[in-house]
Amino acid sequence: MNIIVTENYDEMSRVAADEIAACVAENPACVLGLATGSTPIGLYECLASDCADGKISFKDVTTFNLDEYVGLDGDHDQSYRYFMNAQLFDHVDIDKERTFVPSGTTDDIDAFCADYEEAIIEAGGIDVQLLGLGHNGHIGFNEPCDVFPRITHKVDLTESTIEANSRLFASKDEVPRQAVTMGVGTIMAARKVVVVASGADKAAIVKRAFFGPVAPEVPASILQFHPNVVVVIDEAAASELD
Ligand code: GLP
Repeated sequence: MNIIVTENYDEMSRVAADEIAACVAENPACVLGLATGSTPIGLYECLASDCADGKISFKDVTTFNLDEYVGLDGDHDQSYRYFMNAQLFDHVDIDKERTFVPSGTTDDIDAFCADYEEAIIEAGGIDVQLLGLGHNGHIGFNEPCDVFPRITHKVDLTESTIEANSRLFASKDEVPRQAVTMGVGTIMAARKVVVVASGADKAAIVKRAFFGPVAPEVPASILQFHPNVVVVIDEAAASELD
């Protein structure tokens, strides 16, 4: 595990964007696993500006997002499809037909999850998976639990995640109680993983996830067993590390 500590959020965004851009430069038809949350917003801005400057092109790239709320369609401004369009896809030369975000509104969620998993495999697997980190150690929406969930599945969100994400909704009652997420196994199958975390409020979980015991109570801790992980964190998020 390679841990890079940056001075601040902007440098974290640039360094992490460079990891993704390097993958696209090496293989213009690569498969990217993408994440939502506040943390990657700066990184997406960097990628959009690289694309505008002609430094990289997404025209042959395929993307799979980690997760989506159950019950929100892509037009809802808190859906992750909406987020991805607004933060990245609308600003780069990607073919939106090749951008996949789990559906939160399908009738048969279990069948959808199996198909999503299959689509990732058919695309050749994920070359680089980007991850944020929940305050409780969740990755995607894989919440702390007794076992590491293997594949894409429907999940009940924990009270702490509902609380944390309520800042983006008009009220806590509007936060969906369930989500569809790639499994921990799906994430671990990516050839490379880039984790971003920023701010003092992430310092405790950064320490637990990457220096504590590997256990499903802290889903991100499994990344300690992945052979190719880069963790990019700013000084505030690294403040509890020795
Ligand atoms: C959400 C997403 C995660 C993300 C997490 C942290 O719950 N499902 O993928 O990593 O939030 O978000 P933030 O970066 O806003 O702290």
